[in-house]
Amino acid sequence: MRKIVVAIDGFSGCGKSSTAKTVAKELGYTYIDSGAMYRAATLHFLNRMTVLTNPVEVEKSLDTLSIAFHPSEENGRQETFLNGLNVEEEIRSMRVSENVSEVSKIKEVRVELVAQQQKLGKKKGVVMDGRDIGTVVFPDAELKVFMTADLLIRAERRQKELLERGELVELDKIANNLKERDRIDSTRKESPLLKANDAVEIDTSFMDFEDQVNQIVELAKKKIA
Ligand code: DC
Repeated sequence: MRKIVVAIDGFSGCGKSSTAKTVAKELGYTYIDSGAMYRAATLHFLNRMTVLTNPVEVEKSLDTLSIAFHPSEENGRQETFLNGLNVEEEIRSMRVSENVSEVSKIKEVRVELVAQQQKLGKKKGVVMDGRDIGTVVFPDAELKVFMTADLLIRAERRQKELLERGELVELDKIANNLKERDRIDSTRKESPLLKANDAVEIDTSFMDFEDQVNQIVELAKKKIA
């Protein structure tokens, strides 16, 4: 059967990752969380105290950056590894969220991660979510989806997720972080967050998760057929 690339882009916290993960499962495809790669790079830069404005330091940090995904032994869920260490929990912390947009602005970081993402999706049969998947990483993706949702609803969802991981964060702080990340991600010079002309827009504010997934799976099946 013909394999396709499903590109899912959109604002921070509108459920792209969980939707993309489930869509991939339904289609029997590989899920790739490109945001996790930017988060892992950010953690690496924070650990090394890389001065983001110093290109030599940035290059050095990129030279020692290795990101991989492996399924969890416990539940089979994909987990992110940074230089051999499981950082799946740590990359979701507020500390990383507060710095990730600044790191994602750096051209050299994007060049490196986009190349890795293109390699991961070369054989198709992937669902990848992020900010520039349909515009830069896979401009020829057979299916492009652009997800949006109301800011407050996104903040409430993110608060619940953080709480489930034992991190209690005020709603205002989360909403401000999402808003600021949307602003930086949409206005940066290097591959800003944009809706591709041929992307299908889905507003998930009042949609339930199952409907979200079904809608994308149906669109994908039409493209595959
Ligand atoms: O999807 P996420 O919220 O985990 O992504 C974290 C950050 O990574 C996001 O604020 C911007 C950046 N990012 C990016 O610039 N390009 C991508 N393809 C994916 C994420």
